[in-house]
Amino acid sequence: MATARNIILAGFMGSGKTTVGKILAQRLGWKFLDTDRLIEERSGAPVAEIFKQYGEAAFRDMETSLARELALFENCVIATGGGFMVRPENRDSAAKGGEIILLVASPMEIWHRVGQSRHRPLLQVEDPLARIQELLRARQPAYDAIAWQIQTDGRPATAIAEEIVEKLKV
Ligand code: S3P
Repeated sequence: MATARNIILAGFMGSGKTTVGKILAQRLGWKFLDTDRLIEERSGAPVAEIFKQYGEAAFRDMETSLARELALFENCVIATGGGFMVRPENRDSAAKGGEIILLVASPMEIWHRVGQSRHRPLLQVEDPLARIQELLRARQPAYDAIAWQIQTDGRPATAIAEEIVEKLKV
């Protein structure tokens, strides 16, 4: 596999992007970035507040403008928000910025990991598991468009990071 300028981790909420991403960045001596944190820094508000004040569409537009910038980054491991790769335009932009890797987890695993999360606006519903299943179904075509996919259920983050390093040969 050709060397990538950046590694862009995609996947549903709770798929392990941040945990794996931080290990991977340390392993490679690269910088770790998170698109949610970058958006929060720029807008001066937490993601939940952006959703509340401006609506989800405004947040998605912020993700799209950030996606266009990814090609300017170098030697970064970038964890993206769970909905980041839903717009085809964002996937195209991200592909210009580096190697996109999708982390996959089952609905139950996701529910165990983030079902009780208070800072994820899309999960503030009576039945988070049903919402997770519904969102996963809706996003499946977008996630399926990503060629490199890694199953994470029951696997330590270190093993996943190592698998990526070996395949990338960076
Ligand atoms: C979202 C996932 C979140 C964050 C926002 C919306 C989504 O990021 O971007 O709450 O649409 O799946 P994480 O995947 O890091 O939780």
